[in-house]
Amino acid sequence: MSSTISTPFGFGSTADEVLNGVDLSGRSALVTGGASGIGLETARSLARAGATVTIAVRDVDAGNKAAADIIASTGNDDVRVQELDLTDVRSISAFSRRWNIPLHMLILNAGIMAVPTLERSGQGHELQFATNYLGHFALTMNLYPWLERATGARVVSVSSNAHHFSPVVFDDIDFEQRPYDPWSAYGQSKTADILLAVEITRRWSSAGICANALNPGAIATNLQRYTGEVLTPVEKRKTPQQGAATSVLLAASPLAADAGGRYFEDCNEAPVVSEPEMFGGGVNPWAIDPESAQRLWELSIPLIS
Ligand code: NAI
Repeated sequence: MSSTISTPFGFGSTADEVLNGVDLSGRSALVTGGASGIGLETARSLARAGATVTIAVRDVDAGNKAAADIIASTGNDDVRVQELDLTDVRSISAFSRRWNIPLHMLILNAGIMAVPTLERSGQGHELQFATNYLGHFALTMNLYPWLERATGARVVSVSSNAHHFSPVVFDDIDFEQRPYDPWSAYGQSKTADILLAVEITRRWSSAGICANALNPGAIATNLQRYTGEVLTPVEKRKTPQQGAATSVLLAASPLAADAGGRYFEDCNEAPVVSEPEMFGGGVNPWAIDPESAQRLWELSIPLIS
């Protein structure tokens, strides 16, 4: 692998700062979970830079309000709203059938965290794995033809520092044998998000499609609905605009044009860390292991068909 990618941006940079001077007119972006939190700010900054932006949302009314807010604040009126529930294969199929333009930037951002008790999707998969990873895997597979047509498409997988909490437990992904733990399930899903970026890049870079993963940092959003508050110390927290900075860097900045299969935080590629410290950062070796990435991909295909 070539050398570590670094940029002049960092912890405090905002998404707007990262895209300052970047012209995205004529390019299209899709942001899942784009009606709130980090996704909303990601969509806003991409729209401000001139992209055609679609936000994929479960609640279309909330999506329309978010789109109106983006249009009012950026002056870009090419902001679209499409219904998508990542836990529902029919919703993902219907969404994908409606998609009809080349897709330059696919930002897999939607997520849920630390669901307190074991819940399952309609297909029986543990809900955090189903939402944060499997639904995004299905969406990405379905949209492949549109990514390919974009030439130079970038997929951005929003992971978390919590990926250090668990590898993908291949013997029991869905908590059928082991006791359910909200943070292990979240950690597993976020490790899967990084492995997805590794394997997309390995399989699809020859078609001009690369993917990278990231930790946005700690930001007070709706994500903490089950934990009540952000657990990270105050000095390590970010605003949603700062939280969106690494996503837009990977989606659209020329500084990340050569990146593929990598993990970023604070707008820079993160070091590999095998023994993480609490709130310390870095990427765990289990999240970038090429064999695990391939294994996860292969086992995921029958799960979405
Ligand atoms: P948020 O709760 O504001 O946004 C998440 C979005 O995902 C919401 O709009 C929600 O409606 C959507 N979503 C949830 N389930 C869905 C489903 N089944 N189908 C379609 N959309 C669905 O939270 P936030 O913080 O903006 O989260 C964005 C991403 O950032 C998530 O992937 C999260 O894991 C990640 N992240 C956030 C951190 C934080 O401190 N806020 C820290 C590390 C990672």
